[in-house]
Amino acid sequence: MSHSAAPYTPPFPPRPERSERGLKLLAQARRDWLAIWPASAFRRETIFTRFLFRDVVICNSPETVHQAFVEQHEVFQRKSPQHRQALKPLLGDGLFVSDGKLWRERRRVVAPVTHASRLPDLAPVMTEAAASRAAAWAALPPGTVIDALAEMGHLTAEIICRTIFGRGLGADAAATVVSAFAEYQREIGQTDLASFLGLPEWLPRPVNRRARAAARRIHGVVDGLIETILAGGSGEASLIRSMAEARVPGTDRPMDRRAFRNEAIVLFMAGHETTANVLAWALFILSQDRASAARLEAELAATLGGRPAQVTDLPGLPFARAVVEETMRLYPPVPLLSRQAIGPGRIAGRDVRKGAVVLVAPWLLHRNTKVWDQPDAFIPDRFMPDAPRPPRHGYIPFSTGPRVCTGQQLGLVEAIICLATLWQAARLDLVEGTRVMPVARLTLRPGDGLPMRVLPRV
Ligand code: HEM
Repeated sequence: MSHSAAPYTPPFPPRPERSERGLKLLAQARRDWLAIWPASAFRRETIFTRFLFRDVVICNSPETVHQAFVEQHEVFQRKSPQHRQALKPLLGDGLFVSDGKLWRERRRVVAPVTHASRLPDLAPVMTEAAASRAAAWAALPPGTVIDALAEMGHLTAEIICRTIFGRGLGADAAATVVSAFAEYQREIGQTDLASFLGLPEWLPRPVNRRARAAARRIHGVVDGLIETILAGGSGEASLIRSMAEARVPGTDRPMDRRAFRNEAIVLFMAGHETTANVLAWALFILSQDRASAARLEAELAATLGGRPAQVTDLPGLPFARAVVEETMRLYPPVPLLSRQAIGPGRIAGRDVRKGAVVLVAPWLLHRNTKVWDQPDAFIPDRFMPDAPRPPRHGYIPFSTGPRVCTGQQLGLVEAIICLATLWQAARLDLVEGTRVMPVARLTLRPGDGLPMRVLPRV
């Protein structure tokens, strides 16, 4: 089927003529980080600037992303100080915030357990959870209003919890982990993206007492769960069990308990809000773009005929996959990747000094006019199997280079299974008068909620 009408363009903040500077820019970025970029930023390939005493380099082309994240990974592997400080109380030395030898060791344990080859073991949890949510929606009185963003948050949190700790994890334990995480995120919410742009390192970053208390609560719950899993001999597939079986590279010993805990928490944090946001955005877009929704419905009817999607159905769901990939182009769940140079480097032919902050903003790169045709329009055909693939480092929802997301296949497959299963169960309409606009926190969300009306499929 081909598109004859103009493609749908989902919302984005208006672009100012010129960007603000200094403290004014900081104030604006605090309010809305996505709104600070003038139209010219979506055409530039590299931006070199100084911000609050620090060199800042923004890589905004496939070539410069390749230079920073692949070729010079050794120099630009460290997360920015703001990022590390905000997450350290929760993640400890977890691989998400570590670098150097420790990061390499942890990565070698965590990458294989979250690899695509684990999907046959891990995907049934996705199907089960999506099917039970779909059944709950189908049973609602027609027209019931739900918060689709919160619903997707609960769904993906349940999936990641059961993936990490095993399918048998009780609903109570899952709920405790989820609520403690939500509390932590609320508390560090003040550590907004603006500060990642480079406030001086000597400025204390207040991770407040309540956030630390929430982190301790999470540590307690997770430690308890790990003990139970490792003591019980059920042999049920879980990431914890796989990590327990893995050996620290170059030794014959497993990771210690504290490392287990930190990595379990990394996986929970990295693996749930990201997928939740993709799903919420996809539901919103489909509610607006009826042509794409109709194409999806035809594909689902042909491939699934009403039953929940399984990982083996993926080859029959190319359009569902294209919807998810195009959604992540327009609304990359992690809109900003920030690094700090640990030595001198070179980007776009210019020297970059030790200490500089190097940013890659998928928000800019995925809408760069030099990389994309009609960059702001929703055109899933770009990602259909017969379309040319986008430039390798021009589409990076999962980052790129040695620090690329270890769970990228898990996240992608989860989003496709959930979208396919839910979209068959009900049609969602945006509640009249709702204004949807992207907001960047640590992840890119459609505001603080997404009120949608659940209507039966006829
Ligand atoms: C649609 C879903 C997902 C998206 C868009 C996503 C995106 C990302 C991105 C952009 C990064 C790099 C951040 C940076 O460099 O600053 C990352 C890192 C990571 N992600 Fe994902 N992720 C997703 C799902 C998952 C899942 C399901 C898991 C695990 C089960 C996972 C595990 C990780 C880990 C362990 C890292 C840290 C890697 C490292 O620092 O070496 N992610 N993810």
